[in-house]
Order: sequence, then C-alpha cells, then structure tokens
Amino acid sequence: MDTSPFRSRRLSLLARMGEGVAIIPTAPERVRNRDTTFPYRADSYFHYLTGFPEPEAVLVLIAGGTPRSILFCRDKDVEKEIWDGFRHGPEAAPAAFGFDAAHSIRELDAKLPELLANQPALWFSLGHDAAWDARIAAALNAVRAQTRSGKRAPAAIRDVRAALDEMRLVKDAHEIALMREAAAIACDAHRRAMRFVAAGRFEYEIEAEFLHEFRRRGSQFPAYSPIVAGGANACVLHYVDNNRELRDGELLLIDAGCEVDGYASDITRTFPVNGRFSGPQADVYSLVLEAQHAAIAAIKPGATFHDPHAAAVRVLARGMIDMKLLEGSVDGVIESESYKRFYMHRTGHWLGLDVHDAGEYKDGEEWRVLVPGMTLTVEPGCYIRPADDVPQAFWNIGVRIEDDALVTAEGCDIITEDAPKKIADIEALMRDAKHA
Ligand code: GLY
Ligand code: MN
Ligand code: MN
Repeated sequence: MDTSPFRSRRLSLLARMGEGVAIIPTAPERVRNRDTTFPYRADSYFHYLTGFPEPEAVLVLIAGGTPRSILFCRDKDVEKEIWDGFRHGPEAAPAAFGFDAAHSIRELDAKLPELLANQPALWFSLGHDAAWDARIAAALNAVRAQTRSGKRAPAAIRDVRAALDEMRLVKDAHEIALMREAAAIACDAHRRAMRFVAAGRFEYEIEAEFLHEFRRRGSQFPAYSPIVAGGANACVLHYVDNNRELRDGELLLIDAGCEVDGYASDITRTFPVNGRFSGPQADVYSLVLEAQHAAIAAIKPGATFHDPHAAAVRVLARGMIDMKLLEGSVDGVIESESYKRFYMHRTGHWLGLDVHDAGEYKDGEEWRVLVPGMTLTVEPGCYIRPADDVPQAFWNIGVRIEDDALVTAEGCDIITEDAPKKIADIEALMRDAKHA
C-alpha cells in the first residue's frame, strides 16, 4: 500500500492542531446476530489518516515539537489469525503504514494518562461514542489525580472533527483517483441494469445486477443501500424494500453507488421498464434533466454550494407551472416554496468517504464557496403522487437524475457521465440490449 497520502494527511492535521494530542479511534466491530458480525468498515476519519484496516485500533497524534503518530492495535495472535485472518501487530504496523511507533491496544488505557499529561489541548470526537467519552474522561481524571506530582490535564478539549472536516472537503489526488474508480464501476452497473430490466423482473433482481457488478470489479461495498424503485415506489425517497415486480409502462428509478477503498459514488438514473418513455414520462424526465444541466452549469469555483440548488429549483418551478402541477409565477412558486410538494430534497451534498460526506455547508451565515477539489452530487428530481388537483397523466411518476461532480479550475468535471441519461441514449441502449 502507498502510505504517503495517509502520512501527508496526518502531517497536515498535526500542522492544523499546532499543539496538543489527538486521539482518533477506529469503528468497533458490530454484532449482527449472536456470534456473527456486520461486514467491518473502518471509521472514515481513522481511515483517512491511516489506511489501517483492522478493528480495535486507535491513532494518537502528538503535535508541537517533533510531531509524532502512534498506533495502538491488536497484538499478533497465531491462534486468532488461524480463525480470523492476518493481523499486523505493533511490531509490523509502523513500517507498513508509516507510523512513528505502535503499541498493543491492551496498553492504551494505561498509557492514555501519560499521553495526555501536560498537553495543552486534547483533540477528540467528544459525543460520538458514549463508551469512548467515558474512557477519555477516566484518563483525564487519572491525570488530574496526579496534580500534586506536577501533572496537568489539557486545559482545552477541541473537536478533532472540525479540523478533519475542513481537510476532507477538498480531495487530494489519491482520493480523486478512488472516486473516479467508484464512479466508473457504478456507471457500468447502471448500464448493466438498463440492459437487464424488463417487465416481469423483480426489483431485487435488478439490485443483484448492481451487487454483482460492484463486487466483481473489486468494490468492497455498496456505498448505501441501493434504491430500486419501480412505478409509484419512485415517489418514496428512501425506498429500499426492492421487492416488487416491474410492470410494462412504468418508470424505474435506481439510486445506487459503490465504495472503492472507502470512497463512494452516488448515481441515480430513471428509465422506462419497457425501454420507451411515454409522453408524460418524457415531459417530467426532460424537465429534471434540464434542471440538472442548469445545476451543473452553476458548479464552479467562486459559486456557492447553494447556487446549483437555486438553479435547479428555478427550472423545476417553471416546468411544474407549465405542466399544471402548480399555479402562479416562477418567483411566486419559489418564494412560497410550493415546489417542495414535488421536489422536497436538496440538489446535492458533499461526497467522499461518506456518501453524505463530512464538511460544513455554511461558513458562518454564508453558503460555502466552491473551490477546486471539492466533490458533490447534483441530483434534482420530481416526484408526483396522485391527488385530485394533479393531472392524472403524471400520477406516480418519480424521476431523479444524480451525478457526481468534481470542482475543477474551470468549472466541474462530471465523473459519472458514462451512465447514459439523454432519453435517446437510454432508449438506444435498451433497444440494442433487446436485440442482442
Ligand atoms: N443515495 C443517497 C443520496 O442520493 O443522497
Ligand atoms: Mn446523493
Ligand atoms: Mn443517491
């Protein structure tokens, strides 16, 4: 493994800290049932700084003077390794991951008071995990108990996430390469689904095509539970049952992305089960696509995080009026937020190690200004539930089109472009698949 991106992130965090000690635990293994655990995934912050894949590990960073990174990890254990696989152990971890030192995780509680003593600040994710809060409180109290021997507990406790979130907002070259890979795999999975879909298939069969493509290409996990929503299910934003039969004449909305070495892609495509958009389906779809184009045009350095949303809402508001879903003027619909009946979510979110990635959306009162290296989704939609005051032709049509954007010096690069979204391209791909 190339340890240099992780090492340079540690050095960058140490520089931001200036002084003090940071304690960054990885995620615990979680029991799924009885003696079976959920598939293990490291904590995103811990992974960002270490790349170390094992549970029961803690990173300690000491700033000021010569900065140091120390890992606490599981011991080597031949017996356990026979059952559960390889462990680096404190002996091998420093060379393999570029740490200055490593110790057994069993020594952590004994060493914590020494590590905290006489440090001006503790950097920690207070409130994230009650058991860890208690562990840290015990270590701080152990230092305070030694006041008469001249030991001082840190006077300040800072949230290490605030510093890390700022760093995670702007992706480095290593992260961008992984995100491009996650995007490429998910694009191919969406193409695969478009070729496979037919009336009579079940939503879970389509989901299986995604899982197959993700895994066969080396993605470790889906980045979130795939949404495979036929017909009216597309109007349930977080639909994940994926158990209904697909019918001729309805649309299928699929929101599915994968994770590659921790980094997510997040793509939605909506297309007709039978391969041909009906008139009303095409009307709603074209509107959402136009809104997405407007949003993408607004993603550039110097614009704010809010600008793509505002651009998409303006297009959608006008279309909703034209389609007689809403009455009034575009400004009136935006002002009253009546468009939210059909478009109730925002147009994007940061994307990275977490599908809804870390990072503040506002800087004080102002929306965050976009800079090159930020990654965000652009995902307008329109969801039309049946109602007496809604033209029946549009009932149960739910459309979302979601791509992943990397802010560049000139504007943005859509890294998920290989998943078709023009009506003609989707119809051509589905037609070719039928005749293959
Ligand atoms: N798949 C989650 C989202 O689109 O935000
Ligand atoms: Mn998304
Ligand atoms: Mn999504």
